[in-house]
Amino acid sequence: MTNGVAPNLVAAVDEARQWGRLMEMARLGAIPGDGVNRACLTPLDRESRRLLIGWGHAIGLTESIDALGNLFLRHEGTDPSLAPVLTGSHMDSQPSGGRFDGIWGVIAALEAIQALREAGTPTKRPIELVAWTNEEGGRFAPGCMGSMAYAGHSAPDTWDAATDKDDIRFGDALAEHLALEADIPRRPLGGKPFAYVEAHIEQGPKLEAEDRDIGIVTGIQGSRWFTVDITGKSDHAGTAPVGMRQDAVQDMVRAITALNTLMYDPTDVLRFTVARIEVSPNSSNSVAGNVRFTIDLRHPDNAVLLARGNAILGVVQAAMRFCTASVIERFTAAPVVFQPEVPDAIERAALAQGLNAVRMPSGAFHDAQFMVPLCPTGMIFVPSARGVSHHPSEYTAPEQLAAGARVLAAVLADLANQ
Ligand code: GLV
Ligand code: MN
Ligand code: MN
Repeated sequence: MTNGVAPNLVAAVDEARQWGRLMEMARLGAIPGDGVNRACLTPLDRESRRLLIGWGHAIGLTESIDALGNLFLRHEGTDPSLAPVLTGSHMDSQPSGGRFDGIWGVIAALEAIQALREAGTPTKRPIELVAWTNEEGGRFAPGCMGSMAYAGHSAPDTWDAATDKDDIRFGDALAEHLALEADIPRRPLGGKPFAYVEAHIEQGPKLEAEDRDIGIVTGIQGSRWFTVDITGKSDHAGTAPVGMRQDAVQDMVRAITALNTLMYDPTDVLRFTVARIEVSPNSSNSVAGNVRFTIDLRHPDNAVLLARGNAILGVVQAAMRFCTASVIERFTAAPVVFQPEVPDAIERAALAQGLNAVRMPSGAFHDAQFMVPLCPTGMIFVPSARGVSHHPSEYTAPEQLAAGARVLAAVLADLANQ
């Protein structure tokens, strides 16, 4: 391989095979409008993992799982004692998600490894494909549990008590999952990869707007998730005088209005989202006694993330007229800047393949965020049609995905021979 070009390797990436696998995966949890609902640690999640393992077996990869259910498929290196190059993403989806978020990074890793094997390009280092458990956080909050535990960012039992909408505990769902996957060899949690590379759809409008093939991700903005609980008192909607009510919905409206003022950013860099609201008793003619809502806050500057996030409790409490409020932080991912090694390798590969690539930060969080303290890390983005993601209409064309997989294959060959 010279200057990142390996013609037989690049040619071995099979656009139709990759697309076919993605579409087969998309049938698992298909929802109207071409979307996918495949929550983590569900039978559908297990079905998708088994499908992946079957594809891995067919090309000679060996599987293992760890205590968080993170699934690995190993391509052996000529020196198995060397630290592996790790590549992958997640297979769970948003409740109303698309066919590409996460799953493409897993399928692209398989495609790239298969291309390496078919091109007869042995690698000195092993390459391990990883499918992380619960990246989305849609069923159990927060997201990125699998990668946070792998990286030692959080203890593996941190989220045992987190519940889904049916009050199933994450710890119980994980125990059930591990029991059902007991035939898969277990590996210790954690590791020290040589490098980590994640392929992902952009999920934003930049690459399409600039007519680019590849995004060379330079880093990821920081995220903080909070849960706000407002406690009032349920009452009769027809009889209780307004002045005597402790209406949790009315105080929620005041809190969100005050938060919108706190989070106002004329530069439109800060991201503030309230998207999940639970009201109790949730009955038209009962005053709401309790409200729980989530806050998703993001910013590339940690100082801003800290200052605005730390102000939430005071602003919410000051907005209460009749109720009381508490705020719990459930997820903290500091902004990261990727070390130069992987972005540089991506740039070499994209240039060598004649692709139009641009360096850019990621607005979405990813498992890659937690690999940064462990090893050189990077991400390859491909365009998202209309910039849409976390929606059934999420789309990237087969040829755009193939270009991403070719870059990934060349990057893996490069890193795994260092
Ligand atoms: C990932 O799914 C994110 O919300 O950024
Ligand atoms: Mn994702
Ligand atoms: Mn997502």
